[in-house]
Amino acid sequence: MRVVILMTVMVSGVACADPVPAMRLLRSQCLGCHSESKHKGGLVLGSREAMLKGGSSGAVVKEGKPEESPLVGLLAAGADPHMPPKRQLTAEEVAVLSEWVRGGAEWDAAALAPDAATVRPVTLGALPAGYRPVMALAVSPDGMRLAAGCGNEVLVFGVTDGGLELKARAVAQMDAVQSVAWLGDGRLVSGAFRRVVVWGAEGLVKEREVTEELTDRVTALVPLVEGGRVLVADGLAGEAGMVRVMEVATGGLERSWKAHDDTVFAMALTGDGKTVVTAGGDKFVKFWEVGSGRETMRVEAHGTQVLGMALNGDGTQLVTGGADRQLKVWDVKTRESTVTLSGKPAAFNAVVWGGGAVYAATDDGALMRYGDLKAHTGAQSSETGNEKALGRSGTALYCVAARADGTRVFAGSAEGRIVGWDRDGKQVDDVDVAAVKVAGGP
Ligand code: HEC
Repeated sequence: MRVVILMTVMVSGVACADPVPAMRLLRSQCLGCHSESKHKGGLVLGSREAMLKGGSSGAVVKEGKPEESPLVGLLAAGADPHMPPKRQLTAEEVAVLSEWVRGGAEWDAAALAPDAATVRPVTLGALPAGYRPVMALAVSPDGMRLAAGCGNEVLVFGVTDGGLELKARAVAQMDAVQSVAWLGDGRLVSGAFRRVVVWGAEGLVKEREVTEELTDRVTALVPLVEGGRVLVADGLAGEAGMVRVMEVATGGLERSWKAHDDTVFAMALTGDGKTVVTAGGDKFVKFWEVGSGRETMRVEAHGTQVLGMALNGDGTQLVTGGADRQLKVWDVKTRESTVTLSGKPAAFNAVVWGGGAVYAATDDGALMRYGDLKAHTGAQSSETGNEKALGRSGTALYCVAARADGTRVFAGSAEGRIVGWDRDGKQVDDVDVAAVKVAGGP
């Protein structure tokens, strides 16, 4: 089967071995009427077996032969009946399904899975009063702005030597913001439950909201080096952590793949923009080719969930923090863990590199700095990594962000505070997000 597909690829010049685009079309254009519960024309397209069974007029797919497959034939303008009944698919979309049948109609249940029929319906109420955890922080590429997600709001601060100055705040969505990222052109993206918001560069104006196809909380966002696209991680806890490539201008999801069997807690891009690294609740850290969604390597990084993960500036080292209360540094090339700090008092919720040091936010409210996480040998193997507690909050710290040079570091807490330090470990900021006002505003 594989060989046949590869040959078809070479002959037609179309990459038809990848079933994901076809799955997406079936899900968005067909499953509404051809599911287990609807099965119009006696046809169910929810599984490969059901599709091959056909409808009330018989087989609908002849593998390898789109010309003889009603599933493709009925898409043509003028077909009777015409599918979908009230819409003409574009020539491109028809080609996707046609080439997919030509390639053998390979199935990808994971790509088809999050369809409207199986995604749990959820009615979001207002957030409980006083529930405003800071779950996401991002420093702008020039280091002069800090974006924060706090409760259902997004806030932008100016980073000054004297401390944080609030520039703008806006309600992003109904529920808690889980992720924020700068797009590099001054615009911002935020993610929450089944929703990504693109914000304009000035004054936090919503440019676009993307809700389609997202299955659950958007836990991580990473802009791609080649502009105009952002990687979105979402998914159902304990089931599937998805990575999606979103085109910012249209909100269209170009590609999605299942990356983990659980939530994707962190995501990072290598400097060349070619590889995305994901950390999951399934204990794994995985590496993926951005262009194809192909997995290139994985390590079982921790004994329990990997909650935090970050690449250093040149992409040679990875730091991970786990619910197992361990912090580890990895050599990206060899996949070996070069440093392991274990037996710490609390889970590491988030980690970041800044100026060669690692900063880690813990579940018992500490912001730790590790200034020396190089691999040591022999007698020094019980190294502490030159550990220093910069600050302690009364409640858990959920997220951390830093300037690349480490001159400022920020952490966000469960009770809605943003705390910040300078390179010397001196505390510069302590912002109560509920109370802070726009600088110079009313
Ligand atoms: C709005 C509902 C609706 C949508 C959306 C829809 N269909 Fe249908 N489909 C039908 C109905 C109704 C029939 C039966 C038509 C008839 O027999 O006249 C049917 C019949 C078919 C049949 C023939 C089954 C048989 O054995 O008679 C095929 C093949 C088919 N659809 C494929 C598709 C594909 C592929 C898509 C998506 C690109 C799609 N349909 C989208 C309603 C829909």
